Formats: sequence, structure tokens, C-alpha cells
Amino acid sequence: MEKSYKRLLQNNKKWVANQLKSDPDFFTDLSHGQTPEYLWIGCSDSRVPANAITGTKPGEMFVHRNIANMVVHSDMNLLSVLSYAVEVLKVKHIIVCGHYGCGGVLAAMGNKQYGLIDNWLRHIKDVYRIHHTQLDAIKDKKERANKFVELNVMEQVLDLGKTSIVQNAWIQKQPLHLHGWVYDIHDGIINDLGATIRGTKDLHSIYRFAD
Ligand code: CO
Repeated sequence: MEKSYKRLLQNNKKWVANQLKSDPDFFTDLSHGQTPEYLWIGCSDSRVPANAITGTKPGEMFVHRNIANMVVHSDMNLLSVLSYAVEVLKVKHIIVCGHYGCGGVLAAMGNKQYGLIDNWLRHIKDVYRIHHTQLDAIKDKKERANKFVELNVMEQVLDLGKTSIVQNAWIQKQPLHLHGWVYDIHDGIINDLGATIRGTKDLHSIYRFAD
């Protein structure tokens, strides 16, 4: 028990020493503040570490993670992160990154109860309902799950665009692009779903705020 936990603190000391060896000013520079260009909204899954898979360093990426990378517009945590990232840090890109084999998405595809989390998974089930014709037509379960992961990411990107926070940034001509990616835990490759959202014109009219 103790060993597995103390390993982390020992690793930290080694990491500090390595950082200082390659850049003596590393911590001094970071202590002055952060100016990240990216907000990452990813899954809590331990196999999808935002900085490691994108080759970004501390200071480069503002990060929010939850089960199945959801953008729930009544989630105070998500809204606070989004507001600070867009209004104060003025990030240029928001990336929603899902991953194939996502446990949250797989659970949402089934009918088993897991406890409290069922209430969170319901947001993912809503995505299935919206796209049920397309998803039900895919007979292979794994293929259907992969498509569901992709559709869920795209739905979360749209949900970001619907927020007043993102729309106000666009109304104020602040450059802000929303991206949907899916990470493949089998080979480490990120699949850009290629449906970047750049302004209110990309949203269904009912969600658009007038400028
Ligand atoms: Co996941």
C-alpha cells in the first residue's frame, strides 16, 4: 500500500530534477502565470492523459475531465472552467476528445444499473436517442459503440457552441474554434472528426443568440 503511493512522490523529485536539467528557468517561468491556447475537455479514463498524448507541456493546456467527456450545460464545474478559459485566459481552441472503448459510452448503450452514475450516463443516452436510427442500423456492436463515441463527441462540441459563454465570445469577434477528436487507445492515434465549429452559423437556429 505505502509503496505504491510513495512511488509518486519519488517520481516527482526525479521529474523536478529532469526539468531543471533541461531548463533551469522552467518553474520560474511557469510561476509568472499561464497563457494556454487550448481548453481540453476529455474523459477521466486513466489511459487518456491530455498532455502526454498531445505532446504539450505544463502551461499549454487548460484541462477539464469527466466521465465520457460531457458538456452538460448545468454542470457548474464545466461552466466555471469554460468561462475562465474563454473569458479570462482567452483560449483559441476548445477540444472535446473522446476515446474508443469509453466505459461511460458503453455503459450508456446498455440497460444495466451502476448506481449514482446512471444519472450522469443519461446525458449520453440522450445522444443515442437523437441518433438512434443511424446507430440501430449498425449491426456490429463494436462498430456501433465506436460510432456512438464519435457522435457523442460531436454532440458535446455542439453543446459547447450553444452556451452563452462561447456565443458571446463569437459575438465579440474573439477567435475561438471548437474541435471534436477521438483518441484510439489501441494505437495512440487521435482521429480529428473534422467538424470544427467556428461561429453561431454552425448551430441550429433555435440555439443562436442574436448579436
Ligand atoms: Co471514457
